[in-house]
Amino acid sequence: MSIKTRFLLSYIGVIIISIGLLLAATFLIIFSITGDIKSIEHFYKNTYVQKPLTAAEENAFLDLKLLAKHSPEKLLDQEVIEQINQIGISIIVRKNAKITYISPSYRGNNLQNELPPFEETNINTRDTIKVGSLFFTYVKFDFRFSDDEKGSIFVLRKVSSYAELSKELFPILLGSLLLLFIMMIGILNYLVSRSIIKPISVLRKGAERIKSGDLNFQIVTSSKNEIGQLNQAFEEMRIKLKESVDLQIQYEENRKELLSNISHDLKTPITSIIGYVEGIKDGVANTQEKMNKYLNTVYTKAKDLDLLIDELFLFSKLDLQKEQFSFEKVELTQYLKDFVEELSLDLVQQGILLEISPGLKPVYVIADREKLKRVISNLINNSIKNMNKDEKHICISLHERSNDLIIQVIDNGSGIKPEALPYIFNRFYRAEQSRNSQTGGSGLGLAIVKKIIIEHGGEFWATSELAKGTSIFFTLNKVIEIGDEK
Ligand SMILES: Nc1ncnc2c1ncn2[C@@H]1O[C@H](COP(=O)(O)OP(=O)(O)OP(=O)(O)O)[C@@H](O)[C@H]1O
Ligand SMILES: [Mg+2]
Repeated sequence: MSIKTRFLLSYIGVIIISIGLLLAATFLIIFSITGDIKSIEHFYKNTYVQKPLTAAEENAFLDLKLLAKHSPEKLLDQEVIEQINQIGISIIVRKNAKITYISPSYRGNNLQNELPPFEETNINTRDTIKVGSLFFTYVKFDFRFSDDEKGSIFVLRKVSSYAELSKELFPILLGSLLLLFIMMIGILNYLVSRSIIKPISVLRKGAERIKSGDLNFQIVTSSKNEIGQLNQAFEEMRIKLKESVDLQIQYEENRKELLSNISHDLKTPITSIIGYVEGIKDGVANTQEKMNKYLNTVYTKAKDLDLLIDELFLFSKLDLQKEQFSFEKVELTQYLKDFVEELSLDLVQQGILLEISPGLKPVYVIADREKLKRVISNLINNSIKNMNKDEKHICISLHERSNDLIIQVIDNGSGIKPEALPYIFNRFYRAEQSRNSQTGGSGLGLAIVKKIIIEHGGEFWATSELAKGTSIFFTLNKVIEIGDEK
C-alpha cells in the first residue's frame, strides 16, 4: 500500500471517528446536564413554543375569549365559531372531556387525548403539544359554562416537528457534511502531498538517477522539515559523490597522461643513444673525431636521461608527499648572495648576467635549504633555456610584506604567450609544445617548484610579456621574532 493511500485511509478514519466522538459527546453532555435523553426532543419542542401565533389567530383567540367570558353557551354553536373563523384558523372547543367543535382539517387527528387539562387559574395558557410525530403550538383559555361545566378554547397551529425538520434538513446536512468531508480530505491530502509525498518522490527519482550513474542533476527542496533535511543531506551526498567521481576521473586522466609523457620523455633519449651506439658498432664513427662526437652525444643524452629520472623521482615523491622537508630559519639575503656567487662564474662564461637586487637587508624565513635551492635553480634554468637576447640578464629581487617575503626571478628572455601562462605550473606542461625543441625539458621544473612552495606554505605566480621577459614570483613565510610584532 502506498504512503498516499495510507494517509488517505487514516484521514477518512480520523474524520469518521471525530464525527462519531462529537455526536457521542453531544449526547453525553445533554444527558449529563438534564439526566434525560428526551431533552433533545424537548429542545426542538421549546424552539417552537416560542413561536407566536399570527395576528389573525390572536384576534380570533381574543374574540373567542370574550365570548367565553360573557356568553359561553354561544361557543357550543358551530355557526358562531365558524363566523369568527373565516380564514381557516384551527380552533377547538372542549366541554369537560368532550370536543364540541374542532376545525375540519384537525378532525380525526386524535387530538383530544393530548390536549392539556382544564386549569381554573389559566396560568399555562401557551405551550406545544405533540400528537404522533406532529407538533402543535396553542393558546388556551379555560372557563366555566353557565351550567358550571368545565370549558376550554384552543387556537392551534401546526408546526413542523423535529422529525419533519430533520427530514427536510437531512439531505442538506448530509450533503454539506459530505462536501466538508471531501474538502477536508482534499486539503489534508494536498498538505501532506506537498510536504511529504512530493519531496519523497523527488528523493526516489534522485536515488534512481544516482543508481544509474547519473550525478549531473540537482535535488531541489524547499521545505525545511525532516524530509526537507533528508533531501538536503542527499543533495550534499550527491555533490560529494560527484566531486569524488570527478576527482577519480581526473586522477585516471592524469595517470594516463603521466604514463604517456614519461614513456615519451624516456623513449626519446634512449632511441638516440641506441642510434649512436649502433653507429659506433657499425663502424660509422670511423674517425677519432667522429667517435668523440658520437660518444659525447651518448654521454649528454645519458646525462639528460639521468636528470629526467631524477626529476621524475623527486616529483613523484613530492606528489605522494613522501619527500622529507627539514625546515629551518634561513637568512635569505645571505643565502641568495651565496647562491648567486656560486653560479655566476659559470653563467658569466655563457654571457649571462645573474645579479641580486642591491641594498637588501638581512631577512629571516622558514625554509628547507636544499629544496629552496632546487626552486631557484629550476627558475634560473628556465630563464637560461628561454633566453633569446644578446644581452642576457637575470635578476633576483625581494619584496617584504608584513608576514612574508616575495622572491621574484626576472629575466629578459623570450617571454610566455598569455594563453600558456596559466598552465606553466602544471606538470609536463611546456609552452613550447614541440617535444623535440632545442630547450629540451620535461615540463616538470615548475611543477616541482609549485609542490615545494606549497609545502613551505607559500604562494606562486608568474607574469610575462612575450619577447620582453618573464617574472616568476613565490613567497616564503618570515620568521616573526618576539617583539617584532609591535
Ligand atoms: N623564464 C621563462 N621564460 C620563458 N618561458 C618559460 C620560462 N619559465 C618557464 N617557461 C615556460 O614554461 C614551461 C614549463 O616550464 P617547466 O620548468 O615546468 O618545464 P621545462 O623547463 O620545459 O622542463 P624542465 O624544467 O622539466 O626541464 C616551459 O616549457 C616554458 O615554455
Ligand atoms: Mg624548467
